Amino acid sequence: MARHVLALADLKRDEILAILNLASELKHKLKMGVREALYPGYVMALLFEKPSLRTRVSFETGMRHLGGSSLFLGDDVGWGGRESIEDFGRVLSSYVDLIVVRAKSHGSVEELSRHSKVPVINGLTDYSHPCQALADLLTVRENFGTLDGQKVAFVGDANNVSRSLAVGCAKLGVPFAIAGPAGYQFEPSFFERLKGETGTELVATTDPFEAVRGATVVYTDVWASMGQEAEQAERRERFADYQVNERLMGAATKEAIFLHCLPAHRGEEVSAGVIDGAASRVIEQAENRLHAQKGLLAWLLG
Ligand code: CP
Ligand code: NVA
Repeated sequence: MARHVLALADLKRDEILAILNLASELKHKLKMGVREALYPGYVMALLFEKPSLRTRVSFETGMRHLGGSSLFLGDDVGWGGRESIEDFGRVLSSYVDLIVVRAKSHGSVEELSRHSKVPVINGLTDYSHPCQALADLLTVRENFGTLDGQKVAFVGDANNVSRSLAVGCAKLGVPFAIAGPAGYQFEPSFFERLKGETGTELVATTDPFEAVRGATVVYTDVWASMGQEAEQAERRERFADYQVNERLMGAATKEAIFLHCLPAHRGEEVSAGVIDGAASRVIEQAENRLHAQKGLLAWLLG
């Protein structure tokens, strides 16, 4: 049975740390000019139903660094339309060594994984974005030299990005707080279960200032995700008090950094002053998608 990574919940704490350590090692080697062809002849398929810059290019580049190659498959291969997901998964996984999927519905990725003989990696669904969270944790660890003593505050929507980040933080014992308007928060059972499993401090509040108090990392994402375009105007109103700006950053710790998965909307979820300012690490964070995913590939392919 192939090992799939559809959510960070699929990984144990030690497995996440092993991936981060491989990522750091491969990043260090790359900076020294070393690109080891660990997987010559390996082929990775990328099945994307939504647009992407970071996920697509970092996976394709990472696989080439490791000696393999990739096939970018758009919608025209027709998974779940032209033929059943079952037939699709059985056939595709008989050609390639690994599948990365970005899909509208998490359920379709789960179904694909059930019929795949090779590892399936979630490259973003409506439910989770585990590869993003791996890069986020790598960025926090690099910035402070350790995850110990950090606190992550996410200000904004309870979405795919904040969900994966919450799970990653909880598993690694990093206190996590999220602030968003009522009606746009996680179902209470999600945090209760996660707290019970990990013992990590997790807070959900409607007050962004409460969330960022004591935070060494302040994180946000767009208010309307891909697929929520019709809700954009309403969400802009509901989230108006949740912009990460200089005033909110001033309520976090002095050393606090700002993170955003990108793409960002300056003047909405974040002010230009913050995302383009001294505390911002968003470009390093985006670069770390490459290194974190190479760590994930190396961990999955052995
Ligand atoms: N953060 C992220 O996943 O970016 P893309 O949508 O460009 O892949
Ligand atoms: N929450 C965003 C993340 C994009 C990388 C979305 O799903 O559109």
